[in-house]
Amino acid sequence: MNNTQKTPSSTASHAPRLAAIGLCVAVIAVAFAYTGGWLSPARLTPAKIVDSLAPPGGAVKGYRRNHAKGICFTGTFESNGAGTSLSRATVFQTGSYPVTGRFNLAGPVPTMADSAGRVRGLGLRIQTPDGDEWRTAMIDPPFFPVARPDDFYALQLASANKGDPSVLKRFAATHPSVAAFGAWASSAPFTESYAEDRYNSLNSSVLTNAQGQDSTVRWSFIPTATPVPIAPEALKTRAPNFLFEEITQRVASAPQTWTLVMTVAQPGDPTADPSQAWPDDRRKVEVGKLVVSRIEPEPDGPCRDLNFDPTVLPSGMRTSDDPFPAARSAAYSVSYNRRTAEEKDYPHTPQEQP
Ligand code: HEM
Repeated sequence: MNNTQKTPSSTASHAPRLAAIGLCVAVIAVAFAYTGGWLSPARLTPAKIVDSLAPPGGAVKGYRRNHAKGICFTGTFESNGAGTSLSRATVFQTGSYPVTGRFNLAGPVPTMADSAGRVRGLGLRIQTPDGDEWRTAMIDPPFFPVARPDDFYALQLASANKGDPSVLKRFAATHPSVAAFGAWASSAPFTESYAEDRYNSLNSSVLTNAQGQDSTVRWSFIPTATPVPIAPEALKTRAPNFLFEEITQRVASAPQTWTLVMTVAQPGDPTADPSQAWPDDRRKVEVGKLVVSRIEPEPDGPCRDLNFDPTVLPSGMRTSDDPFPAARSAAYSVSYNRRTAEEKDYPHTPQEQP
């Protein structure tokens, strides 16, 4: 008999091992299915949140799924050392650290008119020589429209239901911060320039100093330039890319700066809820200046493959009880993976700049 042939008894002796391997494969498959949300179709996943951001015609391939229109820059963060009282992160030690950043407009369409961008944003990555880095993505409203990530998803669905405005009305009736945000959106002036806007983290983080003391903070970049409001009538006549053109010209003629201010929470402040501003009298620490010195090409520039994930924090900073940074991180990763996989759809020449 050929001794490679299996006898019934050798097959039987392998059976337990085969069963164990089969079990491992099954467990891994179930784990993947669970993670992918296939076992619980009602569960909110990062992919569902990102899908909800898409415009009616579908996502614009190759671009960020939100804040799709933007313009990249490089510069420095000039730390004045005052932040070391709050955090031992190198970025707060006196010094100059390289920055890559991006001014942008909230919305999923990269060709939107600048005048239609009610919410303006700023993404930043600050690197320090020890290899650490701090990424943050901020916006100009003073608070967020909703308190929790699942409410953000519900708001996207309610807003998409344009045929039936009562859906959004009903959502707003049970979420008062939506109306408060609406009041901000309809009254806050539009400025002439990205350089005249204040950008707020809204989400809180915990800083730890060299003595091991924790402080929960939010931060804002406050422009040195005086804001010049555009009258609503004048806004309508602005060129579709007026912000892009203005900031390109402005930075070419002089670097633009912002002061970074940390606001420290007191016990009882709503650190987990970005829809609630903290009282004005909270302690503030000016920790340095952002200097934007060069506008970089958006297509194929240094921001293209950068994900301004708000959970990328240096040692001495960590996420707080605010649920948004983790939810944002997961959604940004889905958006990043999708857009980088669609690389062929991304414009490669400056002429195609939105
Ligand atoms: C659950 C809530 C949120 C979701 C699902 C969400 C989703 C997204 C997505 C998918 C992107 C594109 C990421 C990429 O492809 O690189 C993005 C970008 C951005 N988000 Fe959010 N976001 C949320 C909350 C916020 C909040 C609270 C802020 C500000 C306080 C914010 C500010 C920004 C900014 C400034 C960008 C553009 C960053 C860049 O230039 O790459 N987002 N968001």
